[in-house]
Amino acid sequence: MMAYQVKPTKMRINRYLAACGLASRRKAEQIVLDGRVTIDGEVVQSLSATVSETAKVCVDGTPVTPAVHLTYVLLNKPKGYVTTAQDERGRKTVLELIPDSPRVFPVGRLDINTTGLLLLTNDGELAHRLMHPRFKVAKIYRAGLDRDFSPDDMSKLTSGLILEDGPTQPCVARFFSDSRRQVEIELREGRQQQVRRMFAALTYHVETLNRVRFGCLDLQGLGRGQWRNLSPDEVSALKISVKLS
Ligand code: URA
Repeated sequence: MMAYQVKPTKMRINRYLAACGLASRRKAEQIVLDGRVTIDGEVVQSLSATVSETAKVCVDGTPVTPAVHLTYVLLNKPKGYVTTAQDERGRKTVLELIPDSPRVFPVGRLDINTTGLLLLTNDGELAHRLMHPRFKVAKIYRAGLDRDFSPDDMSKLTSGLILEDGPTQPCVARFFSDSRRQVEIELREGRQQQVRRMFAALTYHVETLNRVRFGCLDLQGLGRGQWRNLSPDEVSALKISVKLS
């Protein structure tokens, strides 16, 4: 079984200790009553004490943290959802699409109007590596443009462009249908709104944007708005791709 150290949102102290695997909730109560537990250095006096996300809990002076299962979710994101856990403007979030999942967070961002493959997990180390430019994880996007894309611009796009936050790496791109407005582009870096900004630098407007691949993952069999858990093989392949095995 895989386990990942995270602190849950506010939790009663006996439940917290039980989640750490130290004792049943009833035995945990006795540990508290014996004065063996501290929260942020203060001995816990009452069973009604709660533990916040940032609190440091110790038993007999040793820090303890609950273990939770690692979860990996693949979502086919529809338009109109933000990829943050909460939105101050009250917009719908991708987390609303996976209500039965343990708490997970999106690996990177897709714009509200971008559709397609989004990975969500509570595996912080894997997420960090997948997003880190050092590991060059490939992401493939299909962009629908406002007009035909010229072969000249295709060679500018793939050679690298100058954006306001610096030059883009050379990349692979191609037309993916008979229409010259449909361009597929593979990026191994992940800057904010990079695809839209690259096409904008060549004076095209991206009307639709769909991510169809992220590393070894694709969307086969997953309709828009649907999600599934990754298989153990998929998790292993992702880990191997970022030298975490
Ligand atoms: N690039 C963009 O411009 N938007 C996205 O959502 C993802 C990549």
